[in-house]
Amino acid sequence: DNSSINLINIPDASPYLNTLLKQIYDEFYVSDEKVDEIIKGFHDEMRAGLDEHNVLLPMIPSYVTGRPTGKESGSYLALDLGGTNLRVCLVTLNGDSTFDMIQQKFTISQEAKDFTLFDWIAQCVDIFLEENKISYDDFTKPTPCAFTFSFPIDQTGIARGNLIMWNKGFSVPNAVGRDIVTLTQNAFTRKHVNVKIVAIINDTIGSLMASAYTNPNCYMGIIFGTGTNACYWEKVSNIKKWSTGNLDRNPDEMIVNMEWGAFDNKLQVLPFTPHDNKLNRKSQNHGLQVFEKMISGMYLGEVIRNAILWLVDRRVLFGGRSSEILNNAYSLDTAYVSVIVADDSPNLDEVRMFIESTLSIPGTTFTDRAVVKNVCKLIGGRAKRLSAAAMCAVLLWRPEVLDNPITIGVDGSMYQFYPKFAESLKVEAIRVLGKEKADNLNIILSKDGSGVGAAVVAMTVSKPAH
Ligand code: GLC
Repeated sequence: DNSSINLINIPDASPYLNTLLKQIYDEFYVSDEKVDEIIKGFHDEMRAGLDEHNVLLPMIPSYVTGRPTGKESGSYLALDLGGTNLRVCLVTLNGDSTFDMIQQKFTISQEAKDFTLFDWIAQCVDIFLEENKISYDDFTKPTPCAFTFSFPIDQTGIARGNLIMWNKGFSVPNAVGRDIVTLTQNAFTRKHVNVKIVAIINDTIGSLMASAYTNPNCYMGIIFGTGTNACYWEKVSNIKKWSTGNLDRNPDEMIVNMEWGAFDNKLQVLPFTPHDNKLNRKSQNHGLQVFEKMISGMYLGEVIRNAILWLVDRRVLFGGRSSEILNNAYSLDTAYVSVIVADDSPNLDEVRMFIESTLSIPGTTFTDRAVVKNVCKLIGGRAKRLSAAAMCAVLLWRPEVLDNPITIGVDGSMYQFYPKFAESLKVEAIRVLGKEKADNLNIILSKDGSGVGAAVVAMTVSKPAH
């Protein structure tokens, strides 16, 4: 709800500054009516995406068809490739809704993002198996592995899918249009890593399945992180474009990976501003993932940087001075935005630190700091509101699911670290769905759930590693 944005009063603001702030406010403000319009827009695109291939919202059938019960057991290797890290895990499902996990995290280098990704993954898996003494001497029995892959793939089987496009700053050549499992498996072969990928799933599905292992009524998985996306259980009879694929029989329901970052790429309902346009035009994937560009962690700081520079250029902020750092694209990391928004000290000390030390712009006034904080709150507030709108749209798509308690598994840095993010989902759910239905919602953090979720999926398709 916008009223919770709570902007700080700036007593010394000049009339010109006030006019410009008002303009930013009007551009980034999301009214209740706008949220309702966005929800309707979601429903139109969801319908089209379920009916046909190659429309705006991909709505990808995942081939995941069985709901977990919590009784699954066995050990599985799981790979979780996010936007920033690769986690390699050995997950042991204990069969009683609990699990144990050993894991190792590897930060993805720019070189891997641009060129060597698959060989680099194979190398990380090799290190993990070696260091944790997971024997793989028996070449007749490769270790089964589930792969959580946080980029859009056109799934053609539970262990097959062609990359639709890169995003989140990845650009490995010769991968778009090709099967990610084959590319990874070939790298394993080259490096003599005796592992067989038995399933590939989106990270949202990892969240859903991990949460479902402890809460079998889990209906939806969402990532609000570097990127943003969601998946949910859909009736197969509702997926008109689905033809049995390579499954023997049609299951009743299946998880659909929405790829909602691509919502409204034609910009018919989203309140896109000139600051968003600037980012979009200069981005690797111009015209694509526009919803993601308005709300996810990879972009939020950059939209704010554009708005701040707009004020600097009009000489109402920092005395019209910028710095080399501030002039650099993507220099304003979203993690700082969370800190700025949370700074409630009377003199805005954290904001001062950020501007003076991090951005290297000395001698700020209270007005400078308050303007920066207000701009962060407005643009971050818009992100929260649009995120909540998307969640509510999916819940209203099949409103009958809210007649009973359901769980939503959520992961990602925005959800975890952006001030009052979870609260804002709840507030919007009450407004849109009504108190009674919203009370049936159990939104839980599926922290690092991708590994567990992948293991649960692997279990359904293969025998355990140990
Ligand atoms: C991007 C990817 C999507 C992923 C999301 C969250 O939107 O396209 O597959 O789920 O980021 O990581």
